[in-house]
Amino acid sequence: MELILLGPPGAGKGTQSKFLETRYGVAQISTGDMLRAEVKAGTPIGLEAKGIMDAGGLVSDDLIIRMIGERISRPDCAKGFILDGFPRTVPQAEALDRLLHETAVDLDAVIELKVDEAVLVERISGRFTCAKCGAGYHDTFRKPKKEGVCDTCGGTEFTRRPDDKAETVHARLDAYNVQTAPILPYYQAQGRLYSVDGMAEMDEVQAQIEAVLRKIGVTAA
Ligand code: AP5
Repeated sequence: MELILLGPPGAGKGTQSKFLETRYGVAQISTGDMLRAEVKAGTPIGLEAKGIMDAGGLVSDDLIIRMIGERISRPDCAKGFILDGFPRTVPQAEALDRLLHETAVDLDAVIELKVDEAVLVERISGRFTCAKCGAGYHDTFRKPKKEGVCDTCGGTEFTRRPDDKAETVHARLDAYNVQTAPILPYYQAQGRLYSVDGMAEMDEVQAQIEAVLRKIGVTAA
């Protein structure tokens, strides 16, 4: 399965792609997570990306395309992958088409998660993550079962992303509307675009995505 999950910041791409990774046995590739790992490790890529990410802008197409080219050639992508946060511009979408063509891989679908802007801001500003295992939570929508303790690993330290501040969230939404939304007609023209209601409960969004996958003949491993 080769799938793109598309949608604005906070639409639920990470939440849904982690579920799909487990259920379908394919690699989840988040360019945001890859960039955050580079920032944390203090690499040249991380140094180049940090200021742009903190301001809510988009990192250069060249850098991202190189990163993705290397990532999808790794063995864990042999059974397929879910792209979360890539492509984010039309040049990135065109570069992905070229990469897939070179490796004779066909993209199954692009699934757009549609969510109203006011809800996105609420989701992003309430999001936090376990510092030890990375499990994701939300102040309102997904609290740990026991307050202050991670359900997955028992960790007691949590972090919030620097770009989840209210002022940066608006810059990220602008970047989505101006630079990323033009990808939708690009994939519509290819007949690969499907939209689901990302405002629904997480389980319901999951069910809608699986319904799309069944429709195009993709079944769980
Ligand atoms: P990235 O990490 O990709 O961030 P993003 O696209 O802004 O997306 P988010 O991770 O904020 O949201 P999400 O859609 O994954 O939602 P989530 O599932 O977490 O990118 C960060 C930065 O890196 C970019 O700004 C850019 O600078 C750079 N970058 C990355 N890729 C790039 C590229 N290709 N080109 C250039 N630059 C790039 O959910 C959000 C919250 O809502 C969570 O708390 C979750 O629990 C909750 N939630 C999810 N679904 C539901 C639901 N159905 N109901 C209620 N709550 C829900």
